[in-house]
Amino acid sequence: MKPTDPDSQSDEPPSTTETVHLELGARSYDIVVGEGVLAQTGRRLAPGLESPRVVIITDANVAPHYLAGVAQALRGQGVACDEVVLSPGEQTKDFKHLEDLLERLLAANTERGTTLVALGGGVIGDIVGFAASILLRGVDYVQIPTTLLAQVDSAVGGKTGINSRQGKNLIGSFHQPRLVLADTDTLDTLPARELRAGYAEVLKYGLIRDAAFFAWLERHGAALLAGDRAARRHAVVTSCRAKAQIVAEDEREGGVRALLNLGHTFGHAFEAETGFASELLHGEAVALGMALAFRLSTQLGLCPDDDRDRVIRHLAAAGLPTSPAALAPRAWHADALLAHMARDKKVRDGKIRFVLARGIGRAFVADEVPTEAVRAVLTEATGGVVAGS
Ligand code: NAD
Ligand code: GLY
Repeated sequence: MKPTDPDSQSDEPPSTTETVHLELGARSYDIVVGEGVLAQTGRRLAPGLESPRVVIITDANVAPHYLAGVAQALRGQGVACDEVVLSPGEQTKDFKHLEDLLERLLAANTERGTTLVALGGGVIGDIVGFAASILLRGVDYVQIPTTLLAQVDSAVGGKTGINSRQGKNLIGSFHQPRLVLADTDTLDTLPARELRAGYAEVLKYGLIRDAAFFAWLERHGAALLAGDRAARRHAVVTSCRAKAQIVAEDEREGGVRALLNLGHTFGHAFEAETGFASELLHGEAVALGMALAFRLSTQLGLCPDDDRDRVIRHLAAAGLPTSPAALAPRAWHADALLAHMARDKKVRDGKIRFVLARGIGRAFVADEVPTEAVRAVLTEATGGVVAGS
């Protein structure tokens, strides 16, 4: 598929968009962010398609809002569309749903030139991206993310996959999309809790290496969460720019890309304890994990207390969990959480890798974190052995 950037046109509603370019040589692509982007799907996609045929895959929550509009925009440009609607939720990211999706795509006579369109949150983006990477030894796909988390993180960078019984995202591939269309208007229908969860991934970019962006979020985060369009667009564009830069530097996570895992080692352990249930959303787990990563960083004498406190204050102000006590009542055991961390795919030679921080905007990867320090942070956070009950 050839990238396209058509200029102005016709009868579409007014749109305010910005384009971020992710430079990966032959696999480069654009990320178009802003209002009214969905209505442009046809003219942005059609000219670059290998053949004028797509299959749109979405979930049952997203379909009633956006499926017909996207399909109409594509058909209006002469593109034939098939549609597949999957059940919503993390449980869809498994072998059974992947197999079912692949069989449905093959039954619908998908060919090498057919492009898959992932319309939805990170769950849809991840499973569709993975299906695209293995179907007929690889077909093109396009991301149309409709959650804040997907717009700022999962739709960009080509990580695809499903969960295994052994853990989350353990089966997958790197397969870059050909285009990302992030319509920030779709966030209007997103439940507030999902919006807040996505905000954790926005904050992550400030905490990793952009202290000025974190300070901007301290001033404008509340407006963003309340639906301010300009704030939303600025936050998504800044996040995509940050992610595009990191992925362009290190597509396969040999180095700097690992910084994007800030909060994830702790977060995954809590998600694993809940069995990846909706009681703890991925973004909420990342928020909690980032708070614990800053606690661990101060405990190790790496990060000023003031920075840790600022991070925790802002997470809390955004309605995100900063300690296990803020989660649904449940017994949390430090040793059980540590055992999950030991199984994490970020473990190398038996050592758990953490992203720690020397301050806001100064994250780094630490390979040699003493297990006792991690246990101490977890034990304190979980109030001894049991918390939240
Ligand atoms: P999700 O895809 O489950 O979407 C959250 C909920 O919102 C779902 O119920 C969905 O149906 C609904 N929804 C989506 N868009 C909507 C809209 N506009 N209006 C109303 N409802 C809408 O979850 P998510 O938070 O987007 O993604 C989480 C997944 O992303 C996890 O599986 C995580 O592992 C993955 N992830 C992947 C990467 C990556 O780099 N590939 C990065 C971060 C997270
Ligand atoms: N979400 C982490 C990454 O894309 O690397």
